[in-house]
Amino acid sequence: MQPNVCYTRHIQQEGDELETAIQVRDLKKVYHVGQNSIAALDGIDLEIQRGEFVCIVGRSGSGKSTLLNMMAGLERPSKGGVVIAGKHIEKLSEAQLVRFRLEHVGFIFQSFNLFPALTAEENVAVPLTYRGIGRRKRLKQSREMLTQVGLQTHLKHRPTQMSGGQQQRVGIARALVANPAIIFADEPTGNLDSKTSAEVLDLMRSVVGAKGHTLVLVTHDPEVARWGDRVVHILDGRITSIEVNPRPGAGEETPPDAVPPEQLKQTQGCTADRAVEAIRGIENAENGAEASRGNQT
Ligand SMILES: Nc1ncnc2c1ncn2[C@@H]1O[C@H](COP(=O)(O)OP(=O)(O)OP(=O)(O)O)[C@@H](O)[C@H]1O
Ligand SMILES: [Mg+2]
Repeated sequence: MQPNVCYTRHIQQEGDELETAIQVRDLKKVYHVGQNSIAALDGIDLEIQRGEFVCIVGRSGSGKSTLLNMMAGLERPSKGGVVIAGKHIEKLSEAQLVRFRLEHVGFIFQSFNLFPALTAEENVAVPLTYRGIGRRKRLKQSREMLTQVGLQTHLKHRPTQMSGGQQQRVGIARALVANPAIIFADEPTGNLDSKTSAEVLDLMRSVVGAKGHTLVLVTHDPEVARWGDRVVHILDGRITSIEVNPRPGAGEETPPDAVPPEQLKQTQGCTADRAVEAIRGIENAENGAEASRGNQT
């Protein structure tokens, strides 16, 4: 499936070779619940190019999140495969998958998934913690990223002290701070009103587009899907059609100097308290090391 030139305008320069970011081949997923089998994905073939903004749209239960989770290596397919950065991710071990996600993938969630006890700058710095970057450096990167999403005045705010749109901007900054090649977003505007949704989508489009990140966004809302370069329609686990959205001009004027990402479905799996505890533990260890270095000088 070759991409149409009209959506390569802010993806790749003319003359550049198209580069496949994600290749999905005959992907199937069957869930077994009691006596019932549910074919959540029923043979999906899809190619997504580097720098593309692809929206996957379909009604509730059509398989959107399942597809996204398979592409992100969060769930294993029953059949078929996903190739990202030359790797068949369905063949990776759990440990390799965690590493793969940390290196290549950022996530933006419908419910923001911010840690309530952490400030905006601490939340955005979390993916860098997992990468072993020191506190001072990661907070600096975090502040730069928050500035790019227009939240330089909210660095010390906790999630409850921010609006939904601001929280989602923190979520975007967190997804990008470690500079992942691919951002996956599952209903990122599902908890926002239509005006704030448009602002957040505009921001995602411009921040992600500026550095050639690939963005795959799942939504049930055709209005949201219109923001994509391509719209993949899915029904009962199958692609029913793919449309190209020519959108001259949109999202090209605001190219902030995006830094990179995270992937943190792992943080969905553990409680916020445990994650914060882990982060605080790392920070305490760092502070201890700094203090003992100070004592030695
Ligand atoms: N872990 C699971 N176990 C059993 N069935 C599942 C599981 N996850 C998803 N399903 C089923 O697979 C189908 C697709 O689910 P999926 O979550 O991908 O839908 P969706 O398109 O994201 O829907 P929504 O818009 O409501 O989020 C549904 O029928 C769902 O019930
Ligand atoms: Mg879903």
